[in-house]
Amino acid sequence: MLELFHQNPARSTQLSIQHDELFLDYSKNLVDENVMTALLDLANQSSLKTHTEAMFDGQPINTSEHKAALHPALRGKPEDNYHLNGVPVHEQVEQALKRVSSISEKIRQGRWLGSTGKAITDVIQLGVGGSELGPRIACQALQAYAHPNIKIHFVSNADGAEILSTVKGLNAETTLIIIASKSFTTEETMLNARSALSWLESSLGLSDAQSTTHVFGVTANVENARSFGIAAPQILEFEEWVGGRYSLWSSIGLCISISIGYDNFKAMLSGARDMDIHFRTAPFESNMPVILALLGIWYNNFLNAQTIAIIPYCERLTLLPAYLQQLDMESNGKSISLNDQPLDYATAPILWGQTGTDGQHAFFQLLHQGSHLVPIDFIAAINDPLSNRTHHRFLLNNLLAQAAALMTGKKGKNTPAHKVYPGNKPSNMLLMNELSPKNFGALIALYEHKVFVQGSIWNINSYDQWGVELGKQMTRELMSDDSLGIEAFDSSTQQLSKYIHHHTQPSTD
Ligand code: F6P
Repeated sequence: MLELFHQNPARSTQLSIQHDELFLDYSKNLVDENVMTALLDLANQSSLKTHTEAMFDGQPINTSEHKAALHPALRGKPEDNYHLNGVPVHEQVEQALKRVSSISEKIRQGRWLGSTGKAITDVIQLGVGGSELGPRIACQALQAYAHPNIKIHFVSNADGAEILSTVKGLNAETTLIIIASKSFTTEETMLNARSALSWLESSLGLSDAQSTTHVFGVTANVENARSFGIAAPQILEFEEWVGGRYSLWSSIGLCISISIGYDNFKAMLSGARDMDIHFRTAPFESNMPVILALLGIWYNNFLNAQTIAIIPYCERLTLLPAYLQQLDMESNGKSISLNDQPLDYATAPILWGQTGTDGQHAFFQLLHQGSHLVPIDFIAAINDPLSNRTHHRFLLNNLLAQAAALMTGKKGKNTPAHKVYPGNKPSNMLLMNELSPKNFGALIALYEHKVFVQGSIWNINSYDQWGVELGKQMTRELMSDDSLGIEAFDSSTQQLSKYIHHHTQPSTD
């Protein structure tokens, strides 16, 4: 890479893209002009352009489930003219947003009361995957905008210690439970919901807590939420054409709006919409999602890198790797084509990461001197109103130093091998002016579209997730009282099941 910089003094400006308050410098990548031209040719020769229009046009690009992936409509304006089967969807989206706005503002203003007449101080969002990660990262990233007296808690895991310890410290009188599940069938969410309800009931002397003002349901399956007993005015709906991992923009974002306020929630949507427009209209060579996707394909398919690291230099983006793991790996972790044919090339890399500077004292050793090629996305906000000048200057200089050190390396004539830094390690640098709702929305939409572009070029369905079903089904078999349950399993699982049974202490329930 250093050689390429010497050959072309304009490399860093040429290999940079500005979109609104986001700046991407991708000059520290193992690409020259020929590689970039070839990658752009690949994009042009693929059906990316028509596929993109098919997505924005509401066509059923999720072919295995015959569904559209119309999440950009959730942040659309009337003039974007999103429609499904010829029917405009904007009105429907607006109605749902109005409910998010009025409910969240009532809660924020202390006008939504619990069963004993008290205002809400704590919200527990029960949901998993897309019904948790998006809202959770948004609330964490945008905590500078959070309501000072309302705390949002998230419980996703079936691990009972989570829900039980979360409710332990809370006052049921002032606690609101949001049961967030697109399907309203997800076992861990329903299990957590039942535990939360029985806590509400025993604390408040209620029966049927699910029908009180303490409980909301957010779902695409209103029927299931109703039969669970949630009061109709407390069920917020979103549409089947919103994939779970693309749902933070929908009513699933109710808790985001409660936390940061509806105006900030809308600003997040508008940042995402601006990114939609950029993605749809910018030429491939200056299109941020397309360039990130092509660089990813270069490392994944041509240089055989098996992973990608996401390293935000911002502690409030600590969940970004986890969020992107679902977005990227659940979307593109596939090995058959759209036509159900086996693929003979790699698809989604293993995505991992952690914030800097912490990562510098852990896995950066491997990045600098290890044996794997690991392309990195560094992400940071230039201004941070929650920090101060001293800290932020140190943080950002660490970021610049790491990216530079990885690229330049260090070799001396008489340097012992263990002190040699080979360098030539690639990274992208994505800078935002500030971690504002608008820029956060743009950041998430950027990665949504990156994942879309890669899925499109790999010719896979990025919108289904059949791979997660078998494990769910086998859990149900193990949970069944049917004696056939365990007998049908392999001998290792049978042994482990017996071992667990043998060592289980009497229940304290
Ligand atoms: O099991 C995977 C998955 O279906 C994800 O795609 C989804 O985000 C998550 O489970 C939760 O699903 P639901 O919102 O229907 O509870």
